[in-house]
Amino acid sequence: MNKSLLSAALFSLALAAPLAHAHEAGDIILRAGAITVNPKADSSSVKVDQGPLAGADLGGKATMSSDTQLGLNFAYMITNNWGIELLAATPFEHDVKLKGTALGAANGKLGTLKHLPPTLSLVYYPLDAKSAFQPYVGAGINYTWIYDEHVGSEAQSAGFSNFKAENSWGMAFQVGADYMITDKIMLNAQMRYIDIDTRATVENDAVAPGTRARVNVDVDPFIYMVGLGYKF
Ligand code: NI
Repeated sequence: MNKSLLSAALFSLALAAPLAHAHEAGDIILRAGAITVNPKADSSSVKVDQGPLAGADLGGKATMSSDTQLGLNFAYMITNNWGIELLAATPFEHDVKLKGTALGAANGKLGTLKHLPPTLSLVYYPLDAKSAFQPYVGAGINYTWIYDEHVGSEAQSAGFSNFKAENSWGMAFQVGADYMITDKIMLNAQMRYIDIDTRATVENDAVAPGTRARVNVDVDPFIYMVGLGYKF
């Protein structure tokens, strides 16, 4: 390619590409990808709160495994720089374990729970609307709906039943970036921190009839998603 043809090509790229790549007021963006919830899962010690042993502190803590599902973002650009976004996903499932409690039979896998963590955020895209690279920061509110709590089979043999965990409202923070491959399709990577706190209870009539234990868990997960987006 001769020099003037090359400069003409570069010039037309410089003109065409940025205009084609804008995030603009009124855009609707759908992103989909693999989303991983990795709970920090700090917790209080496990305390007996009902039954003849009420008040006993069993020590130890609760932990939760991580899980990966299909994540979806529905984003709407209010202006060229500000958007709102809803996070949705297929249901996450986590193993819940107890560690280091004074009751030997309680240590190990207690059971599983599922949750859906819809999150509504206000998102700021600082770069010029013409940029193909669109990093962003956001903050919003999360509601985590916890359901389908189950005691695991081993814990069940040890007398545990009626595992429950409360739903949670909390703040959510995110950073991410879109990179426009064409004027419609983008690559996306994002990370979130969500404040999710729950109180879990479980009963055990084998220890003493009417015994219930309680643990307060700061799930507070980091959430990672990578995938593709499409602009309508
Ligand atoms: Ni928290």
